[in-house]
Amino acid sequence: MALDRGPVPPYDIAFQLGTPHGVAVAVTLPDSPDPVDDAILGRLCAVEAKHARTLQGYRQPQFVGGRLALRRAGEQLGRTLPAVLPDSRGTPQLPKGLAGSISHKRTLAVAMVAHDGDGTLGVDLEEVAPARPTVARSVLRPEELEAVAELPEARQWIGILLRFSIKESIYKALDPYVRRYVGFHEASVTPGLDGTAVAVLHLAGGEGPFEVDARYHWLPERILTSVRIRRLSAPDRAPIAR
Ligand SMILES: CC(C)(COP(=O)(O)OP(=O)(O)OC[C@H]1O[C@@H](n2cnc3c(N)ncnc32)[C@H](O)[C@@H]1OP(=O)(O)O)[C@@H](O)C(=O)NCCC(=O)NCCS
Repeated sequence: MALDRGPVPPYDIAFQLGTPHGVAVAVTLPDSPDPVDDAILGRLCAVEAKHARTLQGYRQPQFVGGRLALRRAGEQLGRTLPAVLPDSRGTPQLPKGLAGSISHKRTLAVAMVAHDGDGTLGVDLEEVAPARPTVARSVLRPEELEAVAELPEARQWIGILLRFSIKESIYKALDPYVRRYVGFHEASVTPGLDGTAVAVLHLAGGEGPFEVDARYHWLPERILTSVRIRRLSAPDRAPIAR
């Protein structure tokens, strides 16, 4: 990660991060719904800028920041990205050979890009404060609620937030395969202490099997989670126990 160089102007690179799932790049956002300047829009491909102009309020700066981050992450892999537009479900359409995903929160947009050999990619960025532990009932399965309840009280919120964020990353990585809404109770997540997490899918539509690799990364005041999902072909399936 870059050393702290003080406040970063809006739409500049805040930091770059190499992770086992891909290159992550963060771009600062202005925390204002004001339309993005033409000079900034000019850093995007023309069709991306045209799409950005159709977006209202905060969606415009978020989209622009996410695309600028995606572009820089592609460059880190030696690729100049063509225009990356959303498909009908909102998934960014990366060129062949690459996987990528975007997340934004108030003042930061993050994109991660990787080669697509290890499957699709999903990322999610969350601010740690303020704690909102009441979301647990909606996003956690019973076994996850039990696991969180067993944590020391001071660790419980982060246990909830990590599971929530990894599930949002799962949603983004899974969408290209299942093309439907996947509910929070369709996955169960157990974060480890080492930045990895075990994720088990309980897909209501019976899709799969999939291999899910989940990770989390600590950032100042935020967490970034990432998930890679690969569809298992028949020879990859675990042998049936006899
Ligand atoms: C779609 C969803 C995951 C987006 O998360 P969010 O916190 O609202 O927003 P984020 O800033 O993190 O992500 C937005 C980005 O996600 C991407 N995205 C949107 N829809 C997507 C989809 N269907 N598949 C993959 N990526 C998608 C886009 O890149 C979007 O940014 P952009 O429009 O500027 O390109 C969320 O709104 C949602 O519906 N969650 C509920 C479902 C869920 O998480 N289930 C858990 C399953 S285990």
